[in-house]
Amino acid sequence: MYHTILTEIKAQIFYITINREDKLNALNIQTLTEIKNAILSIYNNHDVRGVIITGKGTKAFAAGADIAEFANFNVEEGTRMSEEGHATLRAIDHCPKPVIAAVNGFALGGGNELAMSCHLRVCVEKARFGQPEVNLGITPGYAGTQRLAQLIGKGRALEFLMTGDMIDANTALQLGLVNHVVSPDQLIPKCEEILDKIKTKAPMAIASVIRCVNAYYEKRADGNNIEINEFGNFFGSEDFIEGTKAFLEKRPAHFRGN
Ligand code: COA
Repeated sequence: MYHTILTEIKAQIFYITINREDKLNALNIQTLTEIKNAILSIYNNHDVRGVIITGKGTKAFAAGADIAEFANFNVEEGTRMSEEGHATLRAIDHCPKPVIAAVNGFALGGGNELAMSCHLRVCVEKARFGQPEVNLGITPGYAGTQRLAQLIGKGRALEFLMTGDMIDANTALQLGLVNHVVSPDQLIPKCEEILDKIKTKAPMAIASVIRCVNAYYEKRADGNNIEINEFGNFFGSEDFIEGTKAFLEKRPAHFRGN
């Protein structure tokens, strides 16, 4: 049924694994849509009490949106891509059951945004986090400008977003970007342990906690629309063409500011 993700239900937990290991689990639009459909499919499934999202392999959770796919997008296609990313991540954020990102390696760009849309994040020691979009001449397009500031505060988020630097797992823990750092063999067990504890609580109370916490941030929802428009507009800029071309040609980008 799905082509880019693997899904399984075991002991009341729904597992979603991004299955594009050779591309470091980069999120093309099909992957985003499949994750969205998978999450929506368990909203009303009473046999599922929690969700774990991870990436296939040991190197990457997701190394971002699929640069090869979007490199030639125009403004309209870029805007649609951002809208689909927002819709997928909103479906995760609004899932009435707890969703945990099991971050098994790089979580960059859209990969970090995907992890941030989950309710909790557990990562391995060698995980790396970053929003490197500025290196490509673009901004984050999947609510990274919104959720990063919510999770780690405005000043730290701005530094992260403007430098495009990667941070390691322990720095992510200190900043509050992740909840726990564990060894690779403990990654899924730690997520399962958290969900097993939450499973003993009243499902309606858990769904309500998620709704209420989300409600606080919804009144600031305008930022999401601004981000979608700004992201789309980059697809008409020369710096964006140069940034994506440079990545695909494995060379540094030379930006001119237009
Ligand atoms: N989109 C599309 N393909 C990607 C990708 C992405 N975001 N990230 C990695 N890949 C592909 C590479 O092009 C490469 O494919 P190839 O083998 O066909 O050439 C493969 O995944 C392996 O990546 P590679 O760059 O060779 O691995 P590395 O170990 O040298 O570097 C990273 C790892 C994560 C540092 C590097 O892949 C990277 O910087 N990725 C892009 C991160 C990014 O800018 N994300 C934001 C996008 S908006």
